[in-house]
Amino acid sequence: MSYARIIGSGSCLPPRAVSNDELAADLAKRDVETSDEWIVERTGIRQRHIAEAGTTSSKLATEAARIALEDAGLAPQEVDLIIVATSTPDYIFPSTACLVQANLGIKGCPAFDVQAVCSGFVYALTTANAFIRSGQARNALVIGAEVFSTILDWNDRRTCVLFGDGAGAVVLKASEQPGIIGAQLNADGSHMGILYAAGNVASGQVVGDPFLRMDGQAVFKLAVNSLSQSAHQVCEQAGISLDEIDWMVPHQANVRILNFLSRKLGIAPEKVIITLDKHANTSAASVPLALDAARRDGRIKEGDLVLMQGVGGGFTWGSVLARM
Ligand code: ACO
Repeated sequence: MSYARIIGSGSCLPPRAVSNDELAADLAKRDVETSDEWIVERTGIRQRHIAEAGTTSSKLATEAARIALEDAGLAPQEVDLIIVATSTPDYIFPSTACLVQANLGIKGCPAFDVQAVCSGFVYALTTANAFIRSGQARNALVIGAEVFSTILDWNDRRTCVLFGDGAGAVVLKASEQPGIIGAQLNADGSHMGILYAAGNVASGQVVGDPFLRMDGQAVFKLAVNSLSQSAHQVCEQAGISLDEIDWMVPHQANVRILNFLSRKLGIAPEKVIITLDKHANTSAASVPLALDAARRDGRIKEGDLVLMQGVGGGFTWGSVLARM
């Protein structure tokens, strides 16, 4: 049975980077008070990229995918599976994955979205891994793409300072050499109330509250505990010890969550890839954006063992362990 190996990656961030100071000045015009000092101290975020009106998840996803394919040395026509993780799709349907497929000029292969909020990328990667392991695909495009700026309540300082827009993509290829060696996913829908965007469309009208709402402290506690449990489980499944991990690429929600987590797992902070300062929380895009940044700056190299982790609304969480 073939393994699935990551052979390429790519990123796309909207060109407009907004610093905490710029954001604070914008929010002050609405009488919403915040500061660079508060945001940096509580979250580690220094800036985020914000999409212009009309920039959609499919546009960012397509660009990230093109770069990942180029990195992998693969032509779009060789792709036989496309999975996009997003909670901010362009439309209710067709899926963002189908839009990306059309943008890339590919026809025929399966293309679908996965919705697991900030865990979306590890859910999508685990799904693509299963397709490759079972022989149903050989070259998969797995993308996390979000325009969370469109679902933020810019009058709610507890949430609007935390997020950014962007997309990250990887190319997975069937290989005799490992590859993804462990993957485990979880969900507990009873925690819906701590993180949600509970709006929808009915009879042509938006019903409910379209914006993201969050109980930050409840999310914080659950995130640390669930990610730590998941890391132990995926390592046990793969028969490796936490000491063997070269790099951790966790979902970028809050630097304090990442510090707690690395301490709890006994993983040195230097092994944790952090892009939160530049990208803020890009939900499903955060793990592939961080992975791509670390591959491109030469930290993550071929042969390294990488633990990727996601956690988010649902509540959902999970881990993928991959030999690069
Ligand atoms: N600027 C200034 N003050 C603020 C801001 C802000 N942007 N936001 C909140 N405050 C104020 C609050 O109003 C409160 O003031 P009060 O005591 O006068 O009411 C004070 O700061 C403390 O607020 P808390 O919400 O208790 O702040 P906390 O230390 O918990 O930090 C945070 C909030 C950063 C959201 C934290 O709870 C957290 O990181 N939680 C994790 C959740 C997370 O990262 N979510 C991302 C999405 S989920 C995911 O990706 C997994």
